Amino acid sequence: MDFSEIIRNRRSIRSFTSQPVDEATVQQLLEIIRTAPTAGNRQAYRLYVIRDPQIRRGLAAAAYHQDFLAEAPVCLAFFADPNRSLGRYGSRGANLYCLQDATIAATFAWMAIVDQGLASVWVGAFDEEAVCRVIQSPPDLRPVALLPIGHPAENPEKTPRRPLDEMVVWR
Ligand SMILES: Cc1cc2nc3c(=O)[nH]c(=O)nc-3n(C[C@H](O)[C@H](O)[C@H](O)COP(=O)(O)O)c2cc1C
Repeated sequence: MDFSEIIRNRRSIRSFTSQPVDEATVQQLLEIIRTAPTAGNRQAYRLYVIRDPQIRRGLAAAAYHQDFLAEAPVCLAFFADPNRSLGRYGSRGANLYCLQDATIAATFAWMAIVDQGLASVWVGAFDEEAVCRVIQSPPDLRPVALLPIGHPAENPEKTPRRPLDEMVVWR
């Protein structure tokens, strides 16, 4: 798919078939994710690849019962890693850059998922402590986004956007 096709095709998908996602595909996604830019190239994020059905059910519960997280065969969990950014950038690194690093990596992931003919949705509504508990992540990492990966079982309409002249200011 070329870039404009990926942008055109991307939708938030919240229903997945039981078809598996193979290891080679996940590896290709990871290689693309790691090309994402990060502040000072500190790569201040950590990525968990979750296949375990019990953990996926736990994540769905931690995300206020967004049960499609358990439905998709794979879930990516992006964490900010403040300590990787703190040394060079101080509080700006720990409070902002590491979150941006994780966010950009997750955005790359979503586009790469669409490029593979698969589907996802960004899940940001969750209890952070519950996510850390379920994944058993170290206490210094902060969860930023969960992205289920699967084959789409729905084909929703494109969602509307505000008009450009409402959100763009020219000076
Ligand atoms: C930061 C962020 C958090 C989001 N959190 C959730 C979420 O917890 N659950 C959900 O179903 N969708 C979530 N979404 C998906 C948005 O609802 C969706 O992207 C938006 O409605 C536009 O639809 P589209 O992705 O199909 O273009 C989130 C998206 C973003 C960018």
